[in-house]
Amino acid sequence: MLIHRPPMGWNTWNTFGANISDKLIRESADAFVEAGLKDAGYKYIVIDDCWSKKLRDPDTDRLVAEPQKFPDGMAPVADYVHGKGLKFGMYSCAGQRTCADYPGSFDHEFLDAETFASWGVDYLKYDFCYKPGGIDGRLLYRRMGMALRASGRDILYSACNWGSDDVWSWIRSTGAHMYRSTGDIFDNPASYRKIVLSQLDKLGTSAPQCFNDMDMLTVGMYGSGLVGTTGCTDADYRSQFALWCFCSAPLMLGCDIRKMSGFIRDLVTNKDLIRVDQDAEARPPMAARHPWNEDLLTLFKHLDDGTYALGFFNLGEEEGEAVATFSDFGLPAHAGYDVSVRDVLDGTGESVYREYMRVKVPAHDCRVFIARLERR
Ligand code: GLA
Repeated sequence: MLIHRPPMGWNTWNTFGANISDKLIRESADAFVEAGLKDAGYKYIVIDDCWSKKLRDPDTDRLVAEPQKFPDGMAPVADYVHGKGLKFGMYSCAGQRTCADYPGSFDHEFLDAETFASWGVDYLKYDFCYKPGGIDGRLLYRRMGMALRASGRDILYSACNWGSDDVWSWIRSTGAHMYRSTGDIFDNPASYRKIVLSQLDKLGTSAPQCFNDMDMLTVGMYGSGLVGTTGCTDADYRSQFALWCFCSAPLMLGCDIRKMSGFIRDLVTNKDLIRVDQDAEARPPMAARHPWNEDLLTLFKHLDDGTYALGFFNLGEEEGEAVATFSDFGLPAHAGYDVSVRDVLDGTGESVYREYMRVKVPAHDCRVFIARLERR
């Protein structure tokens, strides 16, 4: 199954945890389309942990949807999602139990993949809790990779071992299409910053067919829901979303999409930011820090049409003036080119810079530009 671009969608976990149901999925699928997410390129509706009965069916050994949450089983839920022109995702775990203590797929990989295929599942997130001691975790991801292929259905394989065992160095070989590279995100500034800073130098192996997954976004949660903690400001959500886009990370929303504000809807459907995330080449950004203010981070990313994305991020508590010195990214002064930029967040027109560019960035916020070279 070919996955050319980082997957985009929505996942239940960050906001709803175990409070999931047939009704929630249908309402969210409706809201997904109404909010313009589908038109913006989002595709997957994914049910995370806590969807099954606590034990397998004693006769068939199969996983069974919890009837109080999903009274008609999973197939009608998948049908509903498909009826909206969207794709349907589910969750299981490589260990004996899932992280929230439901049955995992260990030693049931082929049976479970077959069950998911029979329900119409298009995406499987595969977690890493309760792995039996003495078994190599890499083998378990290989097994599910084979099982999904054997299932006869195209199922996107979203591996989630939190970056263990140097995941980036072997996961592509298992058939996975994306791989979680860090521990869980929480809805506060320190959490998303820690995640992105831990991955900036590990994006070299994230590429079409298998992308580095920096976890579901908390954009729009404002401290509510399961991973809510302190919440973030709009400036932080803008930064978080833009950082994920610079990294070509999967864009899996985690807020309650039935209640998104206009600001959040506009942010997560911003055409330029999504275009940066979905760039066909998926090149990692080059990163530079301000010479004496560590909180100011500049990212520069090649795009497939010969332009560049240029981002200034303020990870600190005070307004700062961020700088891009173009020679840091491969454009020395003697090259004979200036850089023309267009602001993708405030929509202002082109301005031209020579050798370097400085911009004021409020605390926690960012500025993002599409840049192109202009011969002097
Ligand atoms: C782990 C994963 C999370 C989520 C929970 C579910 O913590 O990393 O993304 O799937 O399990 O229990």
